[in-house]
Amino acid sequence: MFDAGAFADDQLEKIKARIKDGKAIIACSGGVDSVVCAVLASKAIGDRLLAVFVDTGLMRKGEPEQVRDMLREMNVNFKILNEEDYFLDGLEGITDPEKKRKVIGERFIRCFEKEARAFGAKYLVQGTIAPDVIESGAGGKGLVKSHHNVGGLPEDMDLELVEPVIDLYKEEVRQVARHLGIKVSERQPFPGPGLSVRCLGEVTKESIEIVREACHIVEDEIQKASKDGKMDLPWQYFAALIPVRSTGVRNGERMYGRTVAVRAVLTKDAISATPARIPYEVLESISNRITGTLGDKVTRVVYDVTSKPPATIEWE
Ligand code: XMP
Repeated sequence: MFDAGAFADDQLEKIKARIKDGKAIIACSGGVDSVVCAVLASKAIGDRLLAVFVDTGLMRKGEPEQVRDMLREMNVNFKILNEEDYFLDGLEGITDPEKKRKVIGERFIRCFEKEARAFGAKYLVQGTIAPDVIESGAGGKGLVKSHHNVGGLPEDMDLELVEPVIDLYKEEVRQVARHLGIKVSERQPFPGPGLSVRCLGEVTKESIEIVREACHIVEDEIQKASKDGKMDLPWQYFAALIPVRSTGVRNGERMYGRTVAVRAVLTKDAISATPARIPYEVLESISNRITGTLGDKVTRVVYDVTSKPPATIEWE
């Protein structure tokens, strides 16, 4: 049985022993993995840790504000960088999923590197977890996706890696979060490259705004349905904007709008997953709300019933 309290105590001592009186920096996305690491490291070395939240403009609705409030509440020394334009510029005209990930990873590192230098950090704390390593091709397995928090660091960055949760699976990280009193503990996972992986084809300010609102609607409707006892919360649930246009009709006029795919999965470890059996009435509310809110842009909502494998959980 995994003991979250013992794990946290052990890691605190390990981080203290490793970093001693040095400085460390962490890129904090607000996801459970990075927040757990930020809180552990902050407890171990105080303000000699700097948590940097890079607002790529690819975050979920309200996320930058939530992350700020949460880090404040947990007494973590942090800084927010507003870099939306820099990321959107880099993504202009790119449609290949791996190239998109690469651009985001590289720009992320550039922003982050500047902060690390300015802060005088010698160590980099990272929230890498076991499935990230497996899926990024370590341990002899092939590359599935280049997860942007693994192996993407330039060699000349010259920071020593500290990865407190690298041996844990998501559920164990959540247990540690609960133990530390982190509010994020029940939040669903969110990929490093953000909404870009849910926006197929070229990423633009407009497409990100559509998928951000659609994701918010899916999250909100499913959470409401779960509170009302209509269904259990799936492990992960979101929307993706797929590059298919289709004919619709609005106020008696023909439209040619975009397509939103709703995805909700059940899994233990994200290595394999099955589609969640969402009650039909919940799917209908999601669809009605998406077309009601985004009706001038979205003409069609579909539900993804594919397992992983062969599909991955995210669409890119
Ligand atoms: P896939 O789509 O590969 O996703 O089945 C498995 C889990 O990982 C998340 N994911 C990522 N997490 N960096 C991350 O930290 C990434 O680049 C990344 N890509 C996917 C995904 O949301 C799912 O929970």
